[in-house]
Amino acid sequence: MRTEAPVRYDDDRQVWDVFRYDDTKRVLADTESFSSDVARADVFEFPDEDLFRPLQRSILRSDPPRHTWLRDVVDDQFQPGAIGALAPHVREIADELLDERLADGEMDVVEDLAYPLPVIVIAELLGVPADDRDRFKQWSDVLVADVSAAADPQTIIERQEETIRELRAYFEDLIKQRRAIPEDDLITHIATTDPDGHRLTDEDVLGYCILLLVAGNVTTTNLIGNAIRCFDERPELYDELAADRDVLAAAIEEVLRYRSPVQALSRVATTDVELRGETIESGDLVVTWLGSANRDESQFDDPDEFQPERRPNQHIAFGHGVHFCLGAPLARLEARISLGRLLDRAEGIQCVAEERPPVSSSFLHGVEQLPIR
Ligand code: HEM
Repeated sequence: MRTEAPVRYDDDRQVWDVFRYDDTKRVLADTESFSSDVARADVFEFPDEDLFRPLQRSILRSDPPRHTWLRDVVDDQFQPGAIGALAPHVREIADELLDERLADGEMDVVEDLAYPLPVIVIAELLGVPADDRDRFKQWSDVLVADVSAAADPQTIIERQEETIRELRAYFEDLIKQRRAIPEDDLITHIATTDPDGHRLTDEDVLGYCILLLVAGNVTTTNLIGNAIRCFDERPELYDELAADRDVLAAAIEEVLRYRSPVQALSRVATTDVELRGETIESGDLVVTWLGSANRDESQFDDPDEFQPERRPNQHIAFGHGVHFCLGAPLARLEARISLGRLLDRAEGIQCVAEERPPVSSSFLHGVEQLPIR
């Protein structure tokens, strides 16, 4: 598609697809012509606007200046310096999870490490009980399910509505409590900070909490699982990956490029825009394919090869422009520590099953299970 139809309109889905690296960056950088508020798209029918409003008005779906205001609330907390301070604790969590499993000689990388680790970390940061993680998983799975690709979209929409109601019930009391009695956690910080002199509404805080709990976990889980899948194809690399953390860090960047956990991002055109000779009309939905951009031959040599030593590696797996992933330093830290500890402690890793159930979303790339021994 990158060569034959780099920008094409899909009549069935009624969306523009953008496949090339440069075009993807251009769309993502131009927040005036391409809005993140996809509910504005002519093709979109949002199920229950009131119910979904916290997500619709979240940082992910806002454009500047509201986006800038929301981002300022937590930007400092997610900078590499602040995140780096979490390293010893993340390592403890990784070791505890591995202690539980490695003794058996067999584990599932996704279920036993890649899923619980990011959930425990973000739950602790937010100030919600990590023991509720099974519920978080159920909620996340439902919210990231791809309605447009589902055999029975109505059932998924109903389950998503139910999930939002449950998340509202879960967070609403917590937000009230933290406003009344502040604690040293992210919910308190988000609920009580007043960038530009006015505080976030309860709905804004709720949107933030849901996003942090859901968006960051599924994606980091997929990154860790995808890394093991890449490494499994190159077993000769294990010793070097285990011995040198810089080599591991570079390899993780290549996993992000080669098996991008987030495959696509949506935008809506706010004006008529010309892109590679095609006219995208105001109100049209545009899907930029990060997974394809990260394999663009005009940007990367031998793009379909996994080359862990690739430098420079200017992938756009964390997006581009003002919405560049807030949690990128945290995701990188979690991946480096969990994979590093797994490589340190397991002697030679081998994936057991050939058949790996993919996550049920066409926008995400990862597997539900990944048994190793
Ligand atoms: C935004 C990917 C982990 C929180 C994004 C975007 C991408 C992305 C592509 C841009 C969305 C857009 O432009 O529409 C990833 C990947 C991850 C990851 C691949 C793991 C490997 C995390 C984590 C957190 C997080 C751990 C937080 C705990 C966010 C937030 C945004 C975001 C809040 C919205 C930022 C904004 O709109 O300014 N992420 N993410 N992500 N991510 Fe991540």
